[in-house]
Amino acid sequence: MAFIDSNVLPPPRHIAIIMDGNGRWAKKRGLPRTAGHAAGAESFRRIANYCRTLGVEYLTVYAFSTENWRRSQEEVAGIMKLLHRYLLEALADMEKNRVRFRFFGDLSRLSPELRQLCLDAESRSEEYDVQVNFCLNYGGRDEIVRAAKAFSQDVADGKRRPGELSEALFSQYLYSADVPDPELIIRPSGEKRTSNFLLWQSAYSEYVFMNVLWPDFTPKDLDQAIEEYHRRNRRFGGT
Ligand code: FPP
Repeated sequence: MAFIDSNVLPPPRHIAIIMDGNGRWAKKRGLPRTAGHAAGAESFRRIANYCRTLGVEYLTVYAFSTENWRRSQEEVAGIMKLLHRYLLEALADMEKNRVRFRFFGDLSRLSPELRQLCLDAESRSEEYDVQVNFCLNYGGRDEIVRAAKAFSQDVADGKRRPGELSEALFSQYLYSADVPDPELIIRPSGEKRTSNFLLWQSAYSEYVFMNVLWPDFTPKDLDQAIEEYHRRNRRFGGT
């Protein structure tokens, strides 16, 4: 199912989404927050499929931030359970769906089972082209600090010289190494913040903020965001 005409309005190569508003969606219905996340996971499935139909090459989603550990134990466990279930399904359907998985974030704090599922999904999908990047225990500042540390370590080990450092080389130390920057970043739910998402990679991204809550986000909303992206005149600092 595709609504937008990809020949007239080609989608961006890389779309990133802050999946926000699950809690408010649940509250409006008198449901626990975990029900909102379950609906958010369904919304992710729907939008990931639609992105594939449109020919989007990379979809990056903010699934869990370095700050999200501050939420109640029940809510954190609920989100981890949804991810666990999703990855089990993805691994079972790997050959059919042919989606490449990458995980941006520090996986060491996840349970050993979930971490192993992430590693399996990455290694078993390496050869596929359409790519989903899950930001999991991810923070943009944390990513930059880790990259700086890794580069410094390479200098200390004699593998690199300080003068070699360039934007392109630094990018290779980020979780997103070899992934082109997102042209479009969407934040639903009415919030207008970047919330530590893809700080380095978003330097020239178009942000589209929308009022719909993530569980209610439909392919039509994605069309609207792509249309808005096309209305903007991207100059990359030129004239
Ligand atoms: C932000 O909404 C959402 C999160 C912190 C979690 C996102 C996780 C999922 C959508 C489930 C992940 C699983 C898969 C399979 C993708 P919020 O809780 O901050 O909403 P609120 O601002 O309305 O409270």
